[in-house]
Amino acid sequence: MVAPKYWRVVLKLSGEALAGSFGYGIDPDVVNAIARQIKEVVEHGVQLAVVVGGGNIWRGVAGSAKGMDRATADYMGMLATVMNALALQDALQTHGVDTRTQTAIEMKEIAEPYIMRRAIRHMEKGRVVIFAAGTGNPYFSTDTTAALRAAEIEAQVILMAKRVDGVYDCDPLIHPGAIKFEELSFIEMINRGLGVMDATAASLCMDNKIPVIVFDLNQHGNIKKVVFGEKIGTYIGGEFDGQGDS
Ligand code: GTP
Repeated sequence: MVAPKYWRVVLKLSGEALAGSFGYGIDPDVVNAIARQIKEVVEHGVQLAVVVGGGNIWRGVAGSAKGMDRATADYMGMLATVMNALALQDALQTHGVDTRTQTAIEMKEIAEPYIMRRAIRHMEKGRVVIFAAGTGNPYFSTDTTAALRAAEIEAQVILMAKRVDGVYDCDPLIHPGAIKFEELSFIEMINRGLGVMDATAASLCMDNKIPVIVFDLNQHGNIKKVVFGEKIGTYIGGEFDGQGDS
């Protein structure tokens, strides 16, 4: 049997990924579909942690753009990620996947606090760990959370789930002639202003040699394909190891 290419991964889910066709809030059908995809890889022994965003409920940057204090708006965003984490945890448990949620801001009645070594232990026991409440600090995105947690738990790759099937030179939803990158370096991504992730997240990944694979979450089975090394989406990190085949 073919073995997974990556055995410890961080899956970054934007809040919008949970909203489905609603465009906001949480669509239980979509969350269940994601849970089924996660189950497919965990069943193969892959250690998986999830970082969830909160943009389907509240975007801190948007709030501050309208005059709200940025830190307050960001804390509200962190609370939004906890709601998403609980929805995903519930769906995963329903599908028989053992799950632990850890929050970067303590709220012990709801979830465990973030403890790096404990998170690793959970994953070693086959549990999916969901990291919620971002880094616990305002001004940091959930992309940066994914990079930070991936570095801490020594994940081999960040799987960046999107609604498009990779990184394009311009927005493919607006420009039909947009060209998709098979592979990209972080420097190129930053220099071209491709908007895949913010510069803080990108430099954390670059400094810690953590590749990122951008792929389309809406195609069922894609998480498994990426984890098993199938070349879908866009591989970012070309400066580390060429094709990402190591
Ligand atoms: P092991 O030590 O490997 O057995 O892990 P475990 O998570 O099963 O054991 P533990 O006794 O630490 O936790 C039992 C249950 O309580 C799990 O569902 C945990 O997620 C939950 N739990 C543990 N700590 C906290 C906490 O601080 N807050 C909340 N809300 N739940 C917690």
